[in-house]
Amino acid sequence: MARLSLIAIALMGLGETALAALQSCGNAQYDPSQYVCWYNQFLCPVVAGEGLSYCSGACYSTFMYTCSNNVLTLLPAMDSSTPFTLTASNPNLPAVDGKPITASGQHWSIGGVTGSYCPTQVGSACPKGDITAIVSSGGSAAMDVEVPGGQLVYLDPFWNVGYTQAHSASIPSGSITTGFGAYQGGGFVNLNGNGWGWVACPPTAAGGGGGVWNLVAKNSTNAASLSGCTALNLKINPLPQGTIGAWQYT
Ligand SMILES: *[C@@H]1O[C@H](CO)[C@@H](O)[C@H](O)[C@H]1NC(C)=O
Repeated sequence: MARLSLIAIALMGLGETALAALQSCGNAQYDPSQYVCWYNQFLCPVVAGEGLSYCSGACYSTFMYTCSNNVLTLLPAMDSSTPFTLTASNPNLPAVDGKPITASGQHWSIGGVTGSYCPTQVGSACPKGDITAIVSSGGSAAMDVEVPGGQLVYLDPFWNVGYTQAHSASIPSGSITTGFGAYQGGGFVNLNGNGWGWVACPPTAAGGGGGVWNLVAKNSTNAASLSGCTALNLKINPLPQGTIGAWQYT
């Protein structure tokens, strides 16, 4: 079902026309900023800056799938023993492409500075706390921290990504703590709301500016209000097993 949803978003993105020179794919003409041509025969759309790959009649994102013996196959899920960092990916949006996802103020941003804390009594055992590391398994995700109780990741009522404060299980009412797909060799995918994916929203004066973009999960009801935002993928960068990102993220 997730596969069909991804294809559905792919097809919805076709409206924009650019004045790029058309190219040929077999008998069809296509705009290379909007599509990629496979085997001079099949067109797949460019979604979130990724020219989708082709597998036996389906176009797919390599952030979630692979084509194995001509069968579209989900990438294996990450398990909780392998923490990872995330980087924003959309080659058509240089302002965020390659930037880290950063945790600060109980909120994930794109290209910000990681906020972390370690009590002085932990001393030299304190993790550096300068990267934003995450663990994910079974559809949920948590910050990769040492603090007892951990820090759970959730979609807040505005579908921004938040995480619990250390020593607290409190989550804003209406938040969602499941529906996150984390794929080995792929990405961190929001599977809530039928696969509308993530968007990057430009810095606003109200948000303090500073070049930090906001990460929002899109869905059928908030899509219109997010029209100023741009689709992106979140690429998983695995860390060595046992790596702890921070004592706690602030
Ligand atoms: C979509 O996200 C908005 C927040 O931006 C939320 O209020 C709404 O309930 C979500 N819609 C669906 C269908 O989940």
